[in-house]
Amino acid sequence: MSKPFNAFSLVQEQIADLETQLLKRKLRINQSPCDTEALVNHRKLQAFCSNDYLGLANHPDLIQALAEGAHQYGVGSGASHLISGHSTAHDLLEKRLASLQSKHIPNARALFFSTGYLANIAAITGLAKLAKPGEVSIYSAKLNHASLIDGVRLASTQSKASVTLFDHQQLGSLIDAIKQDQNSLKMIVTDGVFSMDGDIAPVQELLKIADQYDALLLVDDAHGFGVLGEQGHGILEQLGIVSDRIIYVGTLGKAAGVGGAFICAQAPFIEWLIQKGRPYIYSTATPPAIAHALLKSLSIIESEEGKSRRHQLHRLITHWQNEMHFSHWQQPVSCTPIQPVILGSNAHALAAATTLDELGYWIPAIRPPTVPVGSARLRITFSANHSIADLQGLIEALQKIERQILEQSS
Ligand SMILES: Cc1ncc(COP(=O)(O)O)c(C=O)c1O
Repeated sequence: MSKPFNAFSLVQEQIADLETQLLKRKLRINQSPCDTEALVNHRKLQAFCSNDYLGLANHPDLIQALAEGAHQYGVGSGASHLISGHSTAHDLLEKRLASLQSKHIPNARALFFSTGYLANIAAITGLAKLAKPGEVSIYSAKLNHASLIDGVRLASTQSKASVTLFDHQQLGSLIDAIKQDQNSLKMIVTDGVFSMDGDIAPVQELLKIADQYDALLLVDDAHGFGVLGEQGHGILEQLGIVSDRIIYVGTLGKAAGVGGAFICAQAPFIEWLIQKGRPYIYSTATPPAIAHALLKSLSIIESEEGKSRRHQLHRLITHWQNEMHFSHWQQPVSCTPIQPVILGSNAHALAAATTLDELGYWIPAIRPPTVPVGSARLRITFSANHSIADLQGLIEALQKIERQILEQSS
Protein backbone atom coordinates (compact mmCIF):
# COMPACT_ATOMS: atom_id res chain seq x y z
CA MET A 1 0.00 0.00 0.00
CA SER A 2 1.31 3.47 -0.86
CA LYS A 3 1.40 6.25 1.75
CA PRO A 4 -1.80 8.32 1.98
CA PHE A 5 -1.29 11.20 -0.45
CA ASN A 6 -2.52 14.74 -0.02
CA ALA A 7 -5.67 14.56 -2.16
CA PHE A 8 -6.70 11.43 -0.27
CA SER A 9 -6.42 13.17 3.11
CA LEU A 10 -8.31 16.16 1.71
CA VAL A 11 -11.16 14.05 0.41
CA GLN A 12 -11.52 12.29 3.75
CA GLU A 13 -11.56 15.61 5.63
CA GLN A 14 -14.06 17.14 3.23
CA ILE A 15 -16.45 14.21 3.43
CA ALA A 16 -16.22 14.18 7.22
CA ASP A 17 -17.01 17.87 7.13
CA LEU A 18 -20.14 17.29 5.03
CA GLU A 19 -21.20 14.63 7.49
CA THR A 20 -20.80 17.02 10.47
CA GLN A 21 -22.90 19.65 8.74
CA LEU A 22 -25.59 17.05 7.96
CA LEU A 23 -24.99 17.74 4.28
CA LYS A 24 -23.70 14.37 3.13
CA ARG A 25 -25.98 12.84 0.51
CA LYS A 26 -26.63 9.14 0.13
CA LEU A 27 -27.34 7.09 -2.95
CA ARG A 28 -30.21 4.68 -2.61
CA ILE A 29 -30.82 1.92 -5.10
CA ASN A 30 -34.29 1.58 -6.55
CA GLN A 31 -34.74 -2.11 -7.31
CA SER A 32 -37.97 -1.59 -9.24
CA PRO A 33 -39.03 0.51 -12.26
CA CYS A 34 -39.76 4.16 -11.57
CA ASP A 35 -43.35 4.27 -10.32
CA THR A 36 -45.29 5.29 -7.25
CA GLU A 37 -44.27 2.09 -5.51
CA ALA A 38 -40.53 1.50 -5.20
CA LEU A 39 -38.46 -1.36 -3.84
CA VAL A 40 -35.54 -0.06 -1.80
CA ASN A 41 -33.39 -2.43 0.26
CA HIS A 42 -36.03 -5.08 -0.44
CA ARG A 43 -38.68 -2.91 1.25
CA LYS A 44 -41.68 -1.48 -0.55
CA LEU A 45 -41.90 2.29 -0.25
CA GLN A 46 -44.44 4.68 -1.63
CA ALA A 47 -42.46 7.23 -3.62
CA PHE A 48 -43.52 10.88 -3.53
CA CYS A 49 -40.24 12.20 -4.87
CA SER A 50 -39.80 11.53 -8.59
CA ASN A 51 -40.50 13.97 -11.41
CA ASP A 52 -42.46 11.34 -13.31
CA TYR A 53 -45.52 13.56 -12.96
CA LEU A 54 -47.71 11.84 -15.52
CA GLY A 55 -46.66 8.34 -14.43
CA LEU A 56 -45.26 7.47 -17.85
CA ALA A 57 -41.79 6.16 -16.91
CA ASN A 58 -43.09 2.60 -16.59
CA HIS A 59 -45.92 2.87 -19.15
CA PRO A 60 -46.28 -0.33 -21.23
CA ASP A 61 -46.68 1.59 -24.51
CA LEU A 62 -43.43 3.44 -23.89
CA ILE A 63 -41.59 0.26 -22.95
CA GLN A 64 -42.80 -1.23 -26.21
CA ALA A 65 -41.84 1.88 -28.19
CA LEU A 66 -38.32 1.82 -26.76
CA ALA A 67 -37.93 -1.85 -27.72
CA GLU A 68 -39.30 -1.10 -31.20
CA GLY A 69 -36.86 1.81 -31.50
CA ALA A 70 -33.94 -0.44 -30.56
CA HIS A 71 -35.00 -2.96 -33.24
CA GLN A 72 -35.34 -0.23 -35.82
CA TYR A 73 -32.28 1.90 -35.02
CA GLY A 74 -29.99 -0.27 -32.89
CA VAL A 75 -28.90 0.77 -29.42
CA GLY A 76 -26.31 3.47 -29.98
CA SER A 77 -25.98 6.53 -32.20
CA GLY A 78 -22.25 6.01 -32.70
CA ALA A 79 -21.21 9.66 -32.98
CA SER A 80 -22.17 13.24 -32.30
CA HIS A 81 -25.03 14.77 -34.29
CA LEU A 82 -22.74 16.70 -36.64
CA ILE A 83 -20.65 13.66 -37.50
CA SER A 84 -22.97 10.71 -38.18
CA GLY A 85 -25.12 10.35 -35.05
CA HIS A 86 -28.19 12.33 -36.20
CA SER A 87 -30.80 9.73 -37.15
CA THR A 88 -34.29 9.79 -38.63
CA ALA A 89 -35.69 9.32 -35.11
CA HIS A 90 -33.93 12.48 -33.88
CA ASP A 91 -35.15 14.42 -36.91
CA LEU A 92 -38.75 13.27 -36.46
CA LEU A 93 -38.66 14.09 -32.77
CA GLU A 94 -37.23 17.57 -33.30
CA LYS A 95 -39.88 18.36 -35.93
CA ARG A 96 -42.61 17.15 -33.63
CA LEU A 97 -41.29 19.14 -30.66
CA ALA A 98 -41.09 22.28 -32.80
CA SER A 99 -44.67 21.78 -33.98
CA LEU A 100 -45.87 21.56 -30.34
CA GLN A 101 -44.45 25.00 -29.57
CA SER A 102 -45.15 26.56 -32.97
CA LYS A 103 -48.31 28.35 -31.78
CA HIS A 104 -46.18 30.13 -29.21
CA ILE A 105 -42.88 30.63 -31.02
CA PRO A 106 -43.18 31.74 -34.67
CA ASN A 107 -40.91 29.89 -37.12
CA ALA A 108 -40.05 27.42 -34.36
CA ARG A 109 -37.33 24.82 -34.66
CA ALA A 110 -36.19 22.39 -31.95
CA LEU A 111 -32.91 20.78 -31.00
CA PHE A 112 -32.77 17.57 -28.95
CA PHE A 113 -30.23 16.97 -26.16
CA SER A 114 -29.44 14.01 -23.93
CA THR A 115 -30.22 15.98 -20.75
CA GLY A 116 -31.76 19.24 -19.62
CA TYR A 117 -28.53 20.09 -17.84
CA LEU A 118 -26.66 20.08 -21.15
CA ALA A 119 -29.46 21.86 -23.03
CA ASN A 120 -29.35 24.75 -20.56
CA ILE A 121 -25.56 25.00 -20.69
CA ALA A 122 -25.65 24.92 -24.50
CA ALA A 123 -28.42 27.50 -24.78
CA ILE A 124 -26.90 30.06 -22.44
CA THR A 125 -23.26 29.75 -23.47
CA GLY A 126 -24.11 29.40 -27.16
CA LEU A 127 -26.43 32.41 -27.29
CA ALA A 128 -23.99 34.51 -25.28
CA LYS A 129 -21.57 34.10 -28.20
CA LEU A 130 -23.90 36.11 -30.45
CA ALA A 131 -22.26 39.32 -29.18
CA LYS A 132 -18.63 40.29 -28.73
CA PRO A 133 -17.11 39.28 -25.37
CA GLY A 134 -17.94 41.89 -22.76
CA GLU A 135 -21.09 43.05 -24.58
CA VAL A 136 -23.45 40.52 -23.05
CA SER A 137 -25.68 40.88 -19.99
CA ILE A 138 -27.47 37.99 -18.34
CA TYR A 139 -30.26 38.46 -15.82
CA SER A 140 -30.89 35.26 -13.89
CA ALA A 141 -33.66 34.48 -11.36
CA LYS A 142 -32.18 33.83 -7.91
CA LEU A 143 -33.80 30.44 -7.43
CA ASN A 144 -32.94 29.08 -10.87
CA HIS A 145 -31.90 25.47 -11.27
CA ALA A 146 -28.20 24.55 -10.99
CA SER A 147 -27.94 23.90 -14.74
CA LEU A 148 -29.00 27.49 -15.50
CA ILE A 149 -26.68 28.79 -12.81
CA ASP A 150 -23.78 26.81 -14.27
CA GLY A 151 -24.61 27.96 -17.81
CA VAL A 152 -24.61 31.57 -16.64
CA ARG A 153 -21.29 31.09 -14.80
CA LEU A 154 -19.72 29.56 -17.88
CA ALA A 155 -21.01 32.38 -20.09
CA SER A 156 -19.60 34.91 -17.68
CA THR A 157 -16.15 33.33 -18.18
CA GLN A 158 -16.34 32.48 -21.89
CA SER A 159 -18.16 35.62 -23.06
CA LYS A 160 -17.29 37.96 -20.19
CA ALA A 161 -21.04 38.34 -19.66
CA SER A 162 -22.11 40.63 -16.85
CA VAL A 163 -24.46 38.74 -14.54
CA THR A 164 -27.29 40.15 -12.41
CA LEU A 165 -29.38 37.95 -10.15
CA PHE A 166 -32.96 39.13 -9.65
CA ASP A 167 -35.28 38.44 -6.73
CA HIS A 168 -37.71 35.57 -6.68
CA GLN A 169 -41.10 36.70 -8.01
CA GLN A 170 -40.12 40.37 -7.65
CA LEU A 171 -38.92 42.11 -10.74
CA GLY A 172 -37.95 45.56 -9.37
CA SER A 173 -34.22 44.76 -9.20
CA LEU A 174 -34.33 43.36 -12.75
CA ILE A 175 -35.99 46.49 -14.14
CA ASP A 176 -33.60 48.81 -12.26
CA ALA A 177 -30.59 47.02 -13.75
CA ILE A 178 -31.80 46.37 -17.28
CA LYS A 179 -33.00 49.91 -17.94
CA GLN A 180 -29.42 51.19 -17.65
CA ASP A 181 -27.93 48.38 -19.71
CA GLN A 182 -26.11 49.43 -22.90
CA ASN A 183 -24.86 45.98 -23.89
CA SER A 184 -25.77 44.70 -27.34
CA LEU A 185 -27.08 41.32 -26.12
CA LYS A 186 -29.32 40.93 -23.09
CA MET A 187 -30.74 37.65 -21.91
CA ILE A 188 -33.22 37.02 -19.08
CA VAL A 189 -33.08 33.48 -17.74
CA THR A 190 -35.69 31.81 -15.56
CA ASP A 191 -37.11 28.47 -14.49
CA GLY A 192 -40.74 28.21 -15.68
CA VAL A 193 -41.83 26.19 -12.66
CA PHE A 194 -39.28 26.61 -9.87
CA SER A 195 -37.95 23.15 -9.21
CA MET A 196 -37.72 23.30 -5.42
CA ASP A 197 -40.68 25.60 -4.71
CA GLY A 198 -43.20 24.56 -7.33
CA ASP A 199 -44.36 28.09 -8.04
CA ILE A 200 -44.62 29.47 -11.57
CA ALA A 201 -42.38 32.28 -12.79
CA PRO A 202 -44.05 35.56 -13.83
CA VAL A 203 -43.30 34.83 -17.49
CA GLN A 204 -45.76 37.38 -18.91
CA GLU A 205 -44.19 40.18 -16.89
CA LEU A 206 -40.71 38.98 -17.80
CA LEU A 207 -41.70 39.00 -21.44
CA LYS A 208 -42.93 42.60 -21.18
CA ILE A 209 -39.54 43.57 -19.75
CA ALA A 210 -37.75 41.58 -22.47
CA ASP A 211 -39.84 43.37 -25.13
CA GLN A 212 -39.27 46.79 -23.61
CA TYR A 213 -35.50 46.42 -23.23
CA ASP A 214 -34.88 44.17 -26.23
CA ALA A 215 -33.73 41.05 -24.40
CA LEU A 216 -34.02 37.35 -25.14
CA LEU A 217 -36.09 35.42 -22.59
CA LEU A 218 -34.95 31.89 -21.81
CA VAL A 219 -37.61 29.86 -20.01
CA ASP A 220 -36.58 26.48 -18.62
CA ASP A 221 -39.88 24.58 -18.49
CA ALA A 222 -38.38 21.35 -17.13
CA HIS A 223 -41.29 20.90 -14.72
CA GLY A 224 -44.03 22.39 -16.89
CA PHE A 225 -43.68 20.48 -20.14
CA GLY A 226 -46.29 17.70 -20.17
CA VAL A 227 -47.98 19.07 -17.05
CA LEU A 228 -49.11 22.61 -17.86
CA GLY A 229 -51.57 23.62 -20.54
CA GLU A 230 -54.67 21.88 -21.84
CA GLN A 231 -52.60 19.79 -24.25
CA GLY A 232 -49.60 19.48 -21.95
CA HIS A 233 -47.43 21.68 -24.17
CA GLY A 234 -46.18 23.54 -21.14
CA ILE A 235 -46.00 27.00 -19.66
CA LEU A 236 -46.34 28.97 -22.91
CA GLU A 237 -49.60 27.17 -23.66
CA GLN A 238 -50.85 27.61 -20.09
CA LEU A 239 -50.14 31.36 -20.11
CA GLY A 240 -51.20 31.90 -23.74
CA ILE A 241 -47.82 33.40 -24.66
CA VAL A 242 -46.70 34.09 -28.22
CA SER A 243 -43.26 35.59 -28.76
CA ASP A 244 -40.37 35.39 -31.15
CA ARG A 245 -37.86 36.29 -28.45
CA ILE A 246 -38.45 33.23 -26.27
CA ILE A 247 -35.87 30.49 -25.99
CA TYR A 248 -37.86 27.56 -24.59
CA VAL A 249 -36.19 24.60 -22.88
CA GLY A 250 -38.25 21.51 -22.11
CA THR A 251 -37.00 18.33 -20.47
CA LEU A 252 -38.15 14.86 -21.45
CA GLY A 253 -37.05 12.78 -18.46
CA LYS A 254 -39.67 14.23 -16.13
CA ALA A 255 -43.35 14.34 -17.24
CA ALA A 256 -42.46 12.78 -20.60
CA GLY A 257 -41.16 9.77 -18.68
CA VAL A 258 -38.12 8.91 -20.82
CA GLY A 259 -35.06 11.17 -20.91
CA GLY A 260 -33.46 14.03 -22.77
CA ALA A 261 -34.42 17.63 -23.37
CA PHE A 262 -34.91 20.16 -26.13
CA ILE A 263 -34.40 23.80 -26.94
CA CYS A 264 -37.07 25.39 -29.07
CA ALA A 265 -36.69 28.86 -30.58
CA GLN A 266 -36.97 30.72 -33.85
CA ALA A 267 -35.08 28.72 -36.49
CA PRO A 268 -32.02 31.01 -36.80
CA PHE A 269 -31.28 30.68 -33.06
CA ILE A 270 -31.36 26.90 -33.36
CA GLU A 271 -29.11 27.06 -36.44
CA TRP A 272 -26.68 29.14 -34.36
CA LEU A 273 -26.72 26.62 -31.50
CA ILE A 274 -25.94 23.82 -33.95
CA GLN A 275 -22.87 25.86 -34.94
CA LYS A 276 -21.84 27.07 -31.47
CA GLY A 277 -23.50 24.97 -28.74
CA ARG A 278 -20.51 23.04 -27.45
CA PRO A 279 -22.50 20.43 -25.46
CA TYR A 280 -24.42 19.71 -28.68
CA ILE A 281 -21.37 19.54 -30.91
CA TYR A 282 -18.94 17.64 -28.70
CA SER A 283 -21.12 14.87 -27.31
CA THR A 284 -22.38 11.57 -28.72
CA ALA A 285 -26.00 11.81 -29.84
CA THR A 286 -28.57 10.18 -27.55
CA PRO A 287 -29.49 6.66 -28.71
CA PRO A 288 -32.14 7.09 -31.43
CA ALA A 289 -34.37 4.51 -29.72
CA ILE A 290 -34.88 7.08 -26.95
CA ALA A 291 -36.04 9.63 -29.52
CA HIS A 292 -38.36 6.99 -31.00
CA ALA A 293 -39.88 6.24 -27.57
CA LEU A 294 -40.29 9.98 -26.98
CA LEU A 295 -42.47 10.30 -30.08
CA LYS A 296 -44.86 7.86 -28.40
CA SER A 297 -44.64 9.78 -25.15
CA LEU A 298 -45.62 13.02 -26.94
CA SER A 299 -48.65 11.25 -28.43
CA ILE A 300 -49.73 10.14 -24.96
CA ILE A 301 -49.18 13.63 -23.52
CA GLU A 302 -51.53 15.13 -26.15
CA SER A 303 -54.12 12.33 -26.02
CA GLU A 304 -57.23 11.89 -23.88
CA GLU A 305 -55.11 9.68 -21.63
CA GLY A 306 -52.63 12.54 -21.16
CA LYS A 307 -55.52 14.89 -20.31
CA SER A 308 -56.95 12.49 -17.77
CA ARG A 309 -53.51 12.07 -16.20
CA ARG A 310 -53.21 15.87 -15.87
CA HIS A 311 -56.72 15.91 -14.43
CA GLN A 312 -55.66 13.40 -11.77
CA LEU A 313 -52.68 15.61 -10.91
CA HIS A 314 -55.06 18.53 -10.39
CA ARG A 315 -57.27 16.43 -8.12
CA LEU A 316 -54.20 15.53 -6.04
CA ILE A 317 -53.05 19.16 -5.86
CA THR A 318 -56.50 20.33 -4.75
CA HIS A 319 -56.75 17.60 -2.13
CA TRP A 320 -53.33 18.55 -0.76
CA GLN A 321 -54.21 22.26 -0.65
CA ASN A 322 -57.49 21.53 1.15
CA GLU A 323 -56.31 18.90 3.60
CA MET A 324 -52.63 19.46 4.40
CA HIS A 325 -52.22 21.88 7.29
CA PHE A 326 -49.12 22.16 9.44
CA SER A 327 -48.85 23.98 12.75
CA HIS A 328 -45.23 25.15 12.28
CA TRP A 329 -43.73 23.85 9.10
CA GLN A 330 -44.14 26.13 6.12
CA GLN A 331 -46.11 25.07 3.11
CA PRO A 332 -45.56 27.62 0.33
CA VAL A 333 -48.39 28.02 -2.16
CA SER A 334 -47.89 25.95 -5.28
CA CYS A 335 -50.39 24.95 -7.93
CA THR A 336 -48.09 22.39 -9.54
CA PRO A 337 -47.26 18.78 -8.58
CA ILE A 338 -44.19 20.07 -6.68
CA GLN A 339 -45.24 20.76 -3.09
CA PRO A 340 -42.46 21.80 -0.75
CA VAL A 341 -42.69 21.52 3.02
CA ILE A 342 -40.05 23.76 4.55
CA LEU A 343 -38.66 22.63 7.90
CA GLY A 344 -35.68 24.99 8.07
CA SER A 345 -32.87 23.03 9.68
CA ASN A 346 -30.99 20.19 8.04
CA ALA A 347 -31.48 18.12 11.20
CA HIS A 348 -35.27 18.46 11.12
CA ALA A 349 -35.49 17.71 7.41
CA LEU A 350 -33.32 14.60 7.83
CA ALA A 351 -35.32 13.44 10.87
CA ALA A 352 -38.57 13.85 8.93
CA ALA A 353 -37.21 11.95 5.92
CA THR A 354 -36.00 9.12 8.18
CA THR A 355 -39.34 8.81 9.94
CA LEU A 356 -41.17 8.92 6.62
CA ASP A 357 -38.97 6.05 5.46
CA GLU A 358 -39.87 4.08 8.59
CA LEU A 359 -43.53 4.66 7.80
CA GLY A 360 -43.03 3.44 4.22
CA TYR A 361 -42.55 6.68 2.27
CA TRP A 362 -39.67 7.73 0.05
CA ILE A 363 -39.19 11.50 0.27
CA PRO A 364 -35.55 12.55 0.68
CA ALA A 365 -34.56 15.68 2.61
CA ILE A 366 -33.48 18.49 0.29
CA ARG A 367 -30.71 20.58 1.80
CA PRO A 368 -28.28 23.34 0.77
CA PRO A 369 -26.80 24.03 -1.69
CA THR A 370 -29.84 22.73 -3.61
CA VAL A 371 -31.97 25.14 -1.56
CA PRO A 372 -30.92 28.27 0.37
CA VAL A 373 -29.36 27.77 3.82
CA GLY A 374 -32.06 27.55 6.51
CA SER A 375 -34.73 26.29 4.11
CA ALA A 376 -34.10 22.53 4.20
CA ARG A 377 -37.25 20.79 3.11
CA LEU A 378 -39.21 17.84 1.97
CA ARG A 379 -39.90 18.21 -1.72
CA ILE A 380 -43.09 16.27 -2.23
CA THR A 381 -44.07 15.48 -5.78
CA PHE A 382 -47.21 13.91 -7.16
CA SER A 383 -47.64 11.44 -9.99
CA ALA A 384 -50.86 10.79 -11.85
CA ASN A 385 -50.43 7.18 -10.67
CA HIS A 386 -51.00 8.26 -7.04
CA SER A 387 -54.54 7.88 -5.74
CA ILE A 388 -56.28 10.30 -3.38
CA ALA A 389 -56.09 7.54 -0.74
CA ASP A 390 -52.28 7.35 -1.21
CA LEU A 391 -52.07 11.09 -0.70
CA GLN A 392 -54.36 11.07 2.33
CA GLY A 393 -52.10 8.43 3.93
CA LEU A 394 -49.10 10.72 3.38
CA ILE A 395 -50.93 13.75 4.80
CA GLU A 396 -51.73 11.86 8.01
CA ALA A 397 -48.14 10.59 8.28
CA LEU A 398 -46.75 14.12 7.84
CA GLN A 399 -49.06 15.57 10.48
CA LYS A 400 -47.94 12.90 12.93
CA ILE A 401 -44.25 13.48 12.13
CA GLU A 402 -44.54 17.23 12.58
CA ARG A 403 -46.02 16.73 16.06
CA GLN A 404 -43.28 14.21 16.96
CA ILE A 405 -40.38 16.36 15.78
CA LEU A 406 -41.70 19.49 17.46
CA GLU A 407 -42.26 17.62 20.73
CA GLN A 408 -38.74 16.22 20.64
CA SER A 409 -37.17 19.61 20.00
CA SER A 410 -39.24 21.54 22.57
C1 LIG B 1 -35.52 23.38 -13.67
C2 LIG B 1 -34.64 22.27 -14.15
N1 LIG B 1 -33.94 22.44 -15.29
C3 LIG B 1 -33.15 21.49 -15.78
C4 LIG B 1 -33.01 20.28 -15.14
C5 LIG B 1 -32.08 19.27 -15.70
O1 LIG B 1 -32.75 18.38 -16.52
P1 LIG B 1 -32.18 16.92 -16.72
O2 LIG B 1 -32.53 16.16 -15.47
O3 LIG B 1 -32.86 16.42 -17.95
O4 LIG B 1 -30.71 17.05 -16.88
C6 LIG B 1 -33.73 20.04 -13.94
C7 LIG B 1 -33.70 18.80 -13.18
O5 LIG B 1 -33.05 17.90 -13.21
C8 LIG B 1 -34.56 21.07 -13.45
O6 LIG B 1 -35.23 20.89 -12.32
